[in-house]
Amino acid sequence: MRTVIRIVLGLVALLAIVAVGIYAWATVASDRLLSRTLASHSVDFPIPFPLSPEEVAELDATEEMLQELALQRALERGAHLVEARYGCGACHGEDFGGGVMVDAFPIGTILGSNLTSGEGGRTAGYGPTEWDRIVRHGLLPDGRPAAMPSEDFRRMSDQELSDVVVFIQSLPPVDNVVPPPELGPLGRILVATGQLALSADMMDSHQAPHAEYPPATAASVEFGEHLAGVCVGCHGADLSGGPVPGGDPSWPPARNLTPDPSALGEWSYGEFVRAMREALRPDGTELLPPMNEMAPFAQRMTETEMEALWMYLQSVTPVPVGN
Ligand code: HEC
Ligand code: HEC
Repeated sequence: MRTVIRIVLGLVALLAIVAVGIYAWATVASDRLLSRTLASHSVDFPIPFPLSPEEVAELDATEEMLQELALQRALERGAHLVEARYGCGACHGEDFGGGVMVDAFPIGTILGSNLTSGEGGRTAGYGPTEWDRIVRHGLLPDGRPAAMPSEDFRRMSDQELSDVVVFIQSLPPVDNVVPPPELGPLGRILVATGQLALSADMMDSHQAPHAEYPPATAASVEFGEHLAGVCVGCHGADLSGGPVPGGDPSWPPARNLTPDPSALGEWSYGEFVRAMREALRPDGTELLPPMNEMAPFAQRMTETEMEALWMYLQSVTPVPVGN
């Protein structure tokens, strides 16, 4: 009996040593990954974007009125982009003064920064390059990888990013000092082993030029593909689904969105809209997180945007479920 107890205690001690060893390694390895600096290009674009020559030609207005109008239009576009398509507020808080991305031990506490001009706001010294770096490259101003899923935003055009900035700059200041991300033991192991990939590492290039303007707003495959830029981070580049990279372990795999009969091939447009806006499957059951969190945003998408998205999903190469 004594011998058995001794063996068990020995094994427990050994496991504890191994666990401490793994944790120590993961701490060093994840710190190294997070403190690297990556180079990215410098960009420049106007904030706000000026009116197009066609718009100016249609208006009989003074220079001052044109500037005022350009700002107003950028603000309207920016509000729609943020509220319907990019959902920055889901992590940065409704007032953009700070919010929660992940707060789950043992993964860690990853909070969305304060983006306003109040105390603790991070964007005071930001110019186009810094905005480009964080939003489209997942890099902090000093080049360290950020804990923000920026792969969803990398297809944003200069005009759209500029519009989002105009919207954020119009918000009232919020005083709130948000602590930097803090990883728990599991979060560190996931980062160290590459299971929780940093978005800056998911991009092939930090030098490739960005489009100046988005495709024309229309019920078209081209515009739909642009809109689907925010879906591929979870649903995969070919939209065939699978486990969400770096996602909460409790989330189900992202579904296959291709037009194969085993995926969305038999769905009607109405069923798609209901899934997006009401988080309900065709059989009436509820979609699970994080997909259901998209409903409030999809409710604010226009009919043209919904149609374009659906046209694009129906146009991609069908992939049977399970492949
Ligand atoms: C899924 C959650 C999430 C979404 C959506 C999101 N962010 Fe973030 N964002 C974060 C987190 C987390 C950080 C903190 C990153 C860090 O410090 O490593 C951050 C940081 C930032 C920062 C500050 C970086 C710094 O200098 O400290 C800016 C600016 C920013 N985000 C802008 C945006 C904009 C604009 C959008 C929408 C287009 C957006 N974010 C959408 C999670 C998110
Ligand atoms: C943060 C990750 C994430 C993002 C971003 C995301 N999805 Fe999903 N989506 C999921 C997950 C996970 C599921 C599976 C939910 C379930 O099984 O209940 C899902 C399910 C779906 C479904 C239901 C499919 C079915 O067979 O039941 C549709 C439709 C869908 N997503 C469309 C989209 C579109 C379109 C976008 C982009 C505009 C998008 N999703 C963006 C994670 C995401």
